[in-house]
Amino acid sequence: MLSKKMVEALNNQLNRELYSAYLYMSMSAHSTFIGLKGFSNWFMVQYQEEMTHAMKFYDYINNQGGQVKLAEIAKPPTIFESPSDMFEKTLKHEQFVTKCINELVDLSIEEKDHATNIFLQWYVTEQVEEEGNDNDIISKLKLIGGDGNGLLTLDKELLARVFVPPTGPISGI
Ligand code: FEO
Repeated sequence: MLSKKMVEALNNQLNRELYSAYLYMSMSAHSTFIGLKGFSNWFMVQYQEEMTHAMKFYDYINNQGGQVKLAEIAKPPTIFESPSDMFEKTLKHEQFVTKCINELVDLSIEEKDHATNIFLQWYVTEQVEEEGNDNDIISKLKLIGGDGNGLLTLDKELLARVFVPPTGPISGI
């Protein structure tokens, strides 16, 4: 049983996950436009991951007897200065998402909502991985600097990323 406040907070996070998907789809489109197929692939896989993050919230709210209420998804940026700009913006966005997840965890503790607390632990772990991946690529981009060959090598590396759907029920942990 979810409190009214919790249903609202979970719906807000569902919207943020959908925005995350939209943001990374926009970065994928921009990468394609500037000829970086690997970056485009990386961000499209990220889009797919974000959709599963959103659907986990969608299913969890439904399964717990709450009402899913979809809201407007904000317009993402469509132009980026450089590959580094995209990853700096990605990291900044993920740090914001981490803060939001932490606030949700705080609410679950405050409300003694153990089921939601357990559900959210998956996201706590996921955020550590997401920020780690972004930091890793930002470090590589710093090493590359303005070297075109280095950028193309990284592009090839990012082309290898494959979307792996989560196993079990989508809202499972
Ligand atoms: Fe769903 Fe990238 O956090």
